[in-house]
Amino acid sequence: MNKNIVILGTQWGDEGKGKIVDFLSSNSAYVVRYHGGHNAGHTLVVNGKKIILHLIPSGLLYPNVIGIISNGVVISPFELVKEIEMLEKNNYFINERLFISESAPLILPYHIAMDLAREKKLGINAIGTTGRGIGPAYEDKIARRALRIGDLKNTKELSIKLEVIVDYYNNQLVSFYKQKSISYKEILKDLLKVKDLIFNMIKDTSTILHKAIKDKKRIIFEGAQGTLLDIDHGTYPYVTSSSSTTGGVITGTGIGPKHLGYVLGITKAYTTRVGKGPFPTELFDEIDNYLSKKGKEFGSTTGRKRRTGWLDGVALRYAVKINSLSALCITKLDVLDDLEEIKICISYKDINTSKIYKDFSVFNLENITPVYEVHPGWKEKTSGIKRIEDLPEAARNYIKRIEEIAQIPVDIISTGPDRSDTILVKTLFF
Ligand code: IMP
Repeated sequence: MNKNIVILGTQWGDEGKGKIVDFLSSNSAYVVRYHGGHNAGHTLVVNGKKIILHLIPSGLLYPNVIGIISNGVVISPFELVKEIEMLEKNNYFINERLFISESAPLILPYHIAMDLAREKKLGINAIGTTGRGIGPAYEDKIARRALRIGDLKNTKELSIKLEVIVDYYNNQLVSFYKQKSISYKEILKDLLKVKDLIFNMIKDTSTILHKAIKDKKRIIFEGAQGTLLDIDHGTYPYVTSSSSTTGGVITGTGIGPKHLGYVLGITKAYTTRVGKGPFPTELFDEIDNYLSKKGKEFGSTTGRKRRTGWLDGVALRYAVKINSLSALCITKLDVLDDLEEIKICISYKDINTSKIYKDFSVFNLENITPVYEVHPGWKEKTSGIKRIEDLPEAARNYIKRIEEIAQIPVDIISTGPDRSDTILVKTLFF
């Protein structure tokens, strides 16, 4: 088996991927973001200090790791520069070891304006996007009119293309959405300011990765959002606009499937979701309050309160299939420490016919109710535990049951936000 690792979320995002990417990066040469944009929020805690990354690969906090933002990502150059500066303020210097794909589409102010205007117009039917312009930027890519990072290399061409596209969007923004128009000259001026700061990072990243593979360097592919937010396989239309599943790694980087050795599905010990859309195991009671508070379930990008619920085994089995997962990493186990009992959804029941469904179908989430299995809580502190044998028996049984439901092993357990609060159940490749 080759050494490369895909790390992605099995739920609706916010599973704690950033921490695990950071943790596994110490033994890797490259970390690659392959889709999404600055809608993601990856929270890392190193020596008690919190760093939130939106666009820059999480592994870059290790000084020897090379970071790549590949063609599948939509990049706001302004946010990118802000994040580089934030890292510099925190004494992480990454300029020489961050490369961005020349083919990655740009997110520009008109995408953000369109995202917000559309959500406003949708009213109660809004998707609940992060308002970062993600959907409109991917639309431009698919419609073959996007400006891409590589366009920053030719100012004259950039200016011509920008004027055309801003005109296209101003028509919609002003006439249809009754919003203010956008000035292409201002965008151009701002782009010319940031261009020089990232110019040397612009590369053919697929070629860099193929060379890394040839040199037998380990690559981590870092997913954002989660399986159920995937544009094809998620709870459409309440999804993001990119491929957050394993398939996205292939198209989003230019690396073939035989180079993906191990696919790790990050799964929170319960479930959360931000934005609208179906959520079969959602809770509305005091357990919701408990999980929000104890799990600090507020969005790291938008600050919104996350909806919370029990672990959904039906959705988890779906994520195992869609992503060809090799193993799971269970995060935030310690958040469940104070609960009397813990539930896992093992199937769905049709509320009209009582028919039981064991398989997840995005077309069948409206008239179903979860069927739960109840497990005793452990009522003991697990935060910071570093060896599986030190976990209380009930917590070990909970993990064992997740393995049975998912039919794959749990290789890592996270028991707190810090890098060091991690149980490596199995020695991975180190
Ligand atoms: P968009 O990606 O901003 O277009 O938002 C589409 C949906 O995906 C909304 O429900 C967002 O809340 C959700 N979403 C986008 N990024 C994340 C994330 O990083 N974590 C969790 N949910 C996200």
